[in-house]
Amino acid sequence: MSLLADIQQVRAAFDRRLEAVRARPDGLPVAGTARAGQASGETVEHLRIAFLGRKGKLAALFARLGTLPKEERPEAGQQLNQAKEYFHTAIETVEAKMRPEGPAEEPGLDLTLPGDPIPLGTIHPVTQIEEQIKNIFLRLGFSVFYGPEVETEFYNFEALNFQQDHPARDMQDTFYISEDLLLRTHTSNNQIHAMQTMKPPLRIIMPGRVYRNEAISARSYCTFHQIEGLVVHRNTSMGELKGTLQYFARELYGSDTRTRFRPSYFPFTEPSAEMDIYWGLKTETDYRVTKGTGWLEILGCGMVHPNVLRAVDVDPIEWTGYAFGMGLERMAMLKWGIGDIRYFYEGDLRFLRQF
Ligand code: PHE
Repeated sequence: MSLLADIQQVRAAFDRRLEAVRARPDGLPVAGTARAGQASGETVEHLRIAFLGRKGKLAALFARLGTLPKEERPEAGQQLNQAKEYFHTAIETVEAKMRPEGPAEEPGLDLTLPGDPIPLGTIHPVTQIEEQIKNIFLRLGFSVFYGPEVETEFYNFEALNFQQDHPARDMQDTFYISEDLLLRTHTSNNQIHAMQTMKPPLRIIMPGRVYRNEAISARSYCTFHQIEGLVVHRNTSMGELKGTLQYFARELYGSDTRTRFRPSYFPFTEPSAEMDIYWGLKTETDYRVTKGTGWLEILGCGMVHPNVLRAVDVDPIEWTGYAFGMGLERMAMLKWGIGDIRYFYEGDLRFLRQF
């Protein structure tokens, strides 16, 4: 066979295979054709190697040039060069079509990405325990009442049956704003405000911040929080007081919580008591926190003193009442095993993030 005829045949073979590659440059089956479902398996790269490669069909034809008689060489050489040119252009055209349109995308601003998270704080442990305690008493039918932190002698002491020079005032030294204005030492001032604002029967709790002029230590701070409770009814009793507070302790600390009441003294309750919770003596901290007894005092309570009722024009013959007051920091320390009251006020995120 002459070289010229072979060049024509190779060109024809190229055209056929080019057709298949053009339809599916990735070599996958072409839908709706006789070859559908059957991959040609051929890609532009295969085509390039088969025809233009060093051991390809064109190279083989070029090699035969030297065997031709001299006068036939120019014509055949020209034909071969044209074929080479043609293969190149055809393959490049198919490749150009496969390239994605336009310049390569720069990684830009993706407006669909979610934004940077805004760091949220946590709810302060004192606020958390306040919520929990409030919820327990709300379930028992109590409502919530708030009163002022800057208070007069009358509401903080006098109306609560603290005599002017009674030593009980020394236990609650505080910060004076003027001769008569002070920062309240307890939430008991709200008992008076509540009974002046509302007529009995009453069943309320009164949360708030209180202040005391105390030496700061792991157990005491110059400000802390309390929840006061007050029930005024026709026939309340010490039994009702104990039952309510025991129920409360078990709701907050678990149904196996042990409580005990010890006699105590407050000018505004009679009789008065303190309620302890059994904390246990498992660790060294337990010994320190409970002073070696295993019991921890969590609140003061008692039957409302008749003088307090009289101070707000409630007849102590017709009405009886009981009251209690608890420290929230103390309750939170118990609940979460916090060893130092000062953590609550330092705003240290390493502490706060644990709640
Ligand atoms: N106000 C008392 C205190 O802060 C607690 C208390 C409240 C006691 C109500 C009896 C009744 O120590």
